[in-house]
Amino acid sequence: MEDFVIKTENLSKVYGRLFWKKKEPSLKGLNLEIPYGTVFGFLGPNGAGKTTTIRLLMGLIKPTTGQAWVLGKPADDVKVKLRIGYLPDGPTFSPYLKAYEFLNICAKLLQIPSSQRRKRIEEVLETVKMSEHANSKLGGFSRGMTQRIGIAQAILNKPDVLILDEPLVGLDPHGRQELKDIVAEQRKAGTNVFFCSHILSDVERICDSVGILFKGDLLRCGKLDELLGATGMRITVNVGNDELTQKLLPQANSSVRLADGGWELIFNNNDEVKAMVDDYVAKKPDSMMITPSRESLEDYFFRNIAVAEQQS
Ligand SMILES: Nc1ncnc2c1ncn2[C@@H]1O[C@H](COP(=O)(O)OP(=O)(O)OP(=O)(O)O)[C@@H](O)[C@H]1O
Ligand SMILES: [Mg+2]
Repeated sequence: MEDFVIKTENLSKVYGRLFWKKKEPSLKGLNLEIPYGTVFGFLGPNGAGKTTTIRLLMGLIKPTTGQAWVLGKPADDVKVKLRIGYLPDGPTFSPYLKAYEFLNICAKLLQIPSSQRRKRIEEVLETVKMSEHANSKLGGFSRGMTQRIGIAQAILNKPDVLILDEPLVGLDPHGRQELKDIVAEQRKAGTNVFFCSHILSDVERICDSVGILFKGDLLRCGKLDELLGATGMRITVNVGNDELTQKLLPQANSSVRLADGGWELIFNNNDEVKAMVDDYVAKKPDSMMITPSRESLEDYFFRNIAVAEQQS
């Protein structure tokens, strides 16, 4: 477990007490191994178990089975918390505290030496573009401003790993861009990032790896390049190959008639299509061009969720 920034082994959670009525687990035997140096996006529909996983990683709730480690230490290890930056889902803070006062309390809890506190708080307020609100009360902040203060407290201790539950929620387009910049900066500084989000286009831009959770099961997990790059092929059929086009068209995910009369067809990887294409290329090498096609994370997500829904 020392080799992974986050590791879980058979991690399950059933909320509430199990009397005679057995409840459906919110998380079912999750096995995750996230190497150091990763920005990991945790995806899944509402109620899939993402927040449950994060609470288990933070040691805020106890697992029903299994174990979790963060930075090589068990999730309930108190000392390791000083090296983690955590943004809970929909954070709420004392409305009577001013932003600076709140961050000062956090800095004390995080054992940041008093000589460094003021400078560090000013730095993080600047990072989340909230310097001008340092002396305003948290109760008067909008959702996005509250989220920015939540992010500020998460990065206050220059953590080794950031665990963020829906960090993009409530942020305007500028805020989302700034958060992406913060993640990029953190990564440059050597911070590992684990976050969940529903904004797939942003996840696709900032993550190296993703996991997709569905009803407590991990459906897919891996490097984005491998998951999306290996999913499809783009076939350009040159003009004059009508017979081949007619065979391929019914199986294509999408088809576009090109200006020169040929076709561009996109397929998911499929052995039957591959065999058909290989056979044709062997006979007529100039009949088409085959290039790998990268699916968007959004299409990949919906396709996998649709299959899982059919099977469940
Ligand atoms: N404190 C709790 N007590 C009982 N059930 C809970 C509790 N917290 C979550 N659940 C249940 O566990 C399941 C997973 O919830 P969780 O909050 O982990 O989902 P999520 O993936 O974070 O969803 P969302 O995208 O809506 O944030 C849901 O069925 C939810 O009803
Ligand atoms: Mg959640």
